[in-house]
Amino acid sequence: MNPHPLTPFGLPSDNGGKDLGLFLPVANGGWILSKNKPELDGSYAYNRQCALLAEQAGMDFIMSMSKFRGYGGETRHWDSSLDPIVLMAALSEVTKKTRIVTTLHTLLQNPAVAAKMLATLQQVSGGRAGLNVVTGSYKGEFAQMGAWPEDVNHDQRYDLAYEWVRAVKALWSDESVTMHGDYVTLDDCESWPKPESRPFLVCAGSSEIGMRLTSEEMDAIFLSGGTGAELAKNSDRAKAIAAEYGRNIRTYSMMTLVIGESDDAAKATAQHYADGLDEGALAGMMRAYGFLDAEIGKENDFTRKARSSFMSAQIVGSARSVTDQVGDLLEASGTDGLMLIFDDYIKSLPIFGAEILPALRARFPDKVAAAVEG
Ligand SMILES: Cc1cc2nc3c(=O)[nH]c(=O)nc-3n(C[C@H](O)[C@H](O)[C@H](O)COP(=O)(O)O)c2cc1C
Repeated sequence: MNPHPLTPFGLPSDNGGKDLGLFLPVANGGWILSKNKPELDGSYAYNRQCALLAEQAGMDFIMSMSKFRGYGGETRHWDSSLDPIVLMAALSEVTKKTRIVTTLHTLLQNPAVAAKMLATLQQVSGGRAGLNVVTGSYKGEFAQMGAWPEDVNHDQRYDLAYEWVRAVKALWSDESVTMHGDYVTLDDCESWPKPESRPFLVCAGSSEIGMRLTSEEMDAIFLSGGTGAELAKNSDRAKAIAAEYGRNIRTYSMMTLVIGESDDAAKATAQHYADGLDEGALAGMMRAYGFLDAEIGKENDFTRKARSSFMSAQIVGSARSVTDQVGDLLEASGTDGLMLIFDDYIKSLPIFGAEILPALRARFPDKVAAAVEG
């Protein structure tokens, strides 16, 4: 439906294939709010192992979030998390092929600092660097360090992000940049080295203005929604907005995979996590999201969903059934790929690489590769 070509980044989606990435567990606990989940300590050692397994599996990218305050509870969920720039620079050295996507908060970083960090990461990674641009949404995370401007609301944080990303792009390409915006000031600002090629830009804005920023300025969007129909609607919308700007972008979603010996075994594992829901961490998450104390502990749509203990949509089953469900979702949604989360990364990534990914590559071939082979 979008007539404009995608900017090529050496990804399967350049030629109609599907991009399959990994969301690294850089914060303790991963994406399961449960006392019964496997041990995920959010350490460099664990994430290094994940990166190597993702590379061996043939995954297209690895991504790190940026987080400054966790949710507490018995498991102290996300209370500890690694710095995404330092982490991804290190992981660039231990991987060769997979793309390296880091995250920066526009509220926290001067764009000239960000431009230089990404230009450096682009050299370190040999041209594999990407950046997830996030505005920062939760007051407690930034007020704790005196970095929450009370007079800048949600949409204005996106106005700031517009100026920020345009400044960063200009610093990557121009000899010198002068810009006097509402939020960004650059005066004859120089930034060297330039990245040899522009880093891949992603964003996960799901509000109207967040989707607009992403469709206008980025190369890919992470969509909200878990079903094929929800994702198809959001994917079409993001691509339609991009087309308004004469652009095309990739659309991704996020999914947790719980892979078991059989469907029943995987379902029992998922139920075990739900049985161990960390109520304290859930309350902490709700507080961070802005729920009032009076609402916490009451039953609502949010808590009903949270009872699963999963922080994202999930697909549960044997390797074979996960393959079919993921394939059906990609087909029904028409999205360009997925960023995957696992309950147990070390156990599941080799299974994903050996059994699931090859079947998905066969079902959604890169059109150029298919033409060459055929
Ligand atoms: C895949 C994905 C990754 C995200 N990474 C971060 C992150 O690292 N740090 C952060 O503060 N927010 C992160 N977010 C939140 C988004 O940036 C965004 O604020 C959220 O989706 C709500 O959209 P809105 O800002 O348009 O309201 C992420 C969201 C998704 C779906």
